[in-house]
Amino acid sequence: MISTRFTKHSLVTEAHKTIRCYQAQPKISVDATMGNGHDTDFLACHSQTVYAFDIQKTALISTEQRLQKTKRLNKVHLILASHENMQLYLPETAKVDVFMFNLGYLPHSDEAIITKTKSTLAALNSAINYLSATGIISIMTYPGHEGGKTEMDAVINWLQSHSDQYVITHIHSMQETEDSPHLFTLLKI
Ligand SMILES: C[S@@+](CC[C@H](N)C(=O)[O-])C[C@H]1O[C@@H](n2cnc3c(N)ncnc32)[C@H](O)[C@@H]1O
Repeated sequence: MISTRFTKHSLVTEAHKTIRCYQAQPKISVDATMGNGHDTDFLACHSQTVYAFDIQKTALISTEQRLQKTKRLNKVHLILASHENMQLYLPETAKVDVFMFNLGYLPHSDEAIITKTKSTLAALNSAINYLSATGIISIMTYPGHEGGKTEMDAVINWLQSHSDQYVITHIHSMQETEDSPHLFTLLKI
C-alpha cells in the first residue's frame, strides 16, 4: 500500500524537510541527479560524505561552483556517470542513509537530456541494495514533460512492488495540477 499526504510547501522543501526528519545526520548520502547542485549542497550540509551523479559536465561544473561557495566541496564526490552505474563508484559495503532522485532534465538546459525509465529503475534497484537500516529514498517525478508521465507510472509500479517491505508515501502539492511534480518517499520498516 502507498500512503498519501498533501503539503502546502514546495515539493523540494518537503523533500528536504522529510529527509531531515528521518535522517538528521546521515553518514553517506547519494544525489542520483545532481543538476545544479541544490540537493547536493543540502545533503552535504548534513551528511559526512555525499556521492553525486550526473551525465552532464555542465551539471558537475555548476555543482562544483555552488559547493566552492558554500565550502562543502570537500565532502562531495562529483561523479560524471549515469546513476544506473552507481555500484562502480560507491564502496562495495557502503550503507547509504539518503538517496535523492530528482528526475527530469536540467533546468535552463537541453531538455532532451533527461532521465529515462529504464536507467531510473535500474538505479532504484541498486539504491535499495545500498540502503541502510534507517535509510530513506526520495524521488521527485515530473509528469508534465515528454516521457515524464510514463516514467512516473513506472516509478509508482516499482514502489508498489516494494510496498510489503517498505513504508511508501506519495506526497502531493496542495496546488497540484495535471503537470505538477509528485514526490515519493520510501523508508525501511
Ligand atoms: C531535475 S535535474 C536535478 C536537479 C538537482 N537535483 C538540483 O538540485 O539542482 C535532473 C538531472 O538529472 C540528470 N540526469 C539525467 N539522466 C541521468 C542519469 N542517467 N544519471 C544521472 N543523472 C541523470 C540530468 O542531466 C539533470 O541534470
